Amino acid sequence: MIDLHCHIIPLVDDGAENAEAACEMAAHALRSGVDTIVCTPHCNLRGARPNYRGRDYAKCFSMFRALLKQRGIPLRILPGCELFAHRSNLRQLLDSKRVVTLNHSRYLLVEFSFHASGESMTSSLELIARRGLIPVVAHPERYDCVQHDPSLAVCWFAKGYIIQLNKGSILGLLGEGAYHAGTHLLASGIAHVIASDAHDPRYRTTGFQSLLPVLSRLCSPEYIQLLLETNPDRIIHDRHIPAPEQEF
Ligand SMILES: [Fe+2]
Repeated sequence: MIDLHCHIIPLVDDGAENAEAACEMAAHALRSGVDTIVCTPHCNLRGARPNYRGRDYAKCFSMFRALLKQRGIPLRILPGCELFAHRSNLRQLLDSKRVVTLNHSRYLLVEFSFHASGESMTSSLELIARRGLIPVVAHPERYDCVQHDPSLAVCWFAKGYIIQLNKGSILGLLGEGAYHAGTHLLASGIAHVIASDAHDPRYRTTGFQSLLPVLSRLCSPEYIQLLLETNPDRIIHDRHIPAPEQEF
């Protein structure tokens, strides 16, 4: 399986707090059948390390890859980021190509403030799409506006944007609102990917072991395969993703 959203690079954001924690997260992922993780540190979050594309990012990423090699942990890691979309600098960041897309594909993982309005989120997503990128909406089920009106996520889906749910939402670990919205989007068949959004080895963890029995009560084996393997694989190889309902 492939985990498309994970804060595993140590000391670059609020994810892995040191090398030990990162290695523990990597080993846990492998034990639960995840062989590939796209590293997605927060990017463009105010008051935090920016993690834009460039020399600093490349250095942190290659140091982490070297660490895994040194420890003998055979996890494949790929570059990416989770772009925090601020209206003030989104256009400039995209035009100057300062964001790390998922394995340098056209797919860009993007997050918003939990309290952002639906209109502002939609207009940021449209701006990203106009630049020739395909937005991957990080955990829409966690946003207030989607929890109040899930049809917003259906609109994004209809525009061809990728809907990525969090493991923790489906497990009920991220609040009732996220649980209800997440399972609703899943039941509607509009989710493309589920990822860990892991931040540490204890609470927001890597791996899908605990998720699989829950998912198997909610969706078919074919859909689970799409969510955890086929679609993430298409994204890292920059391939087209058909709508889930076209696949069965
Ligand atoms: Fe995240």
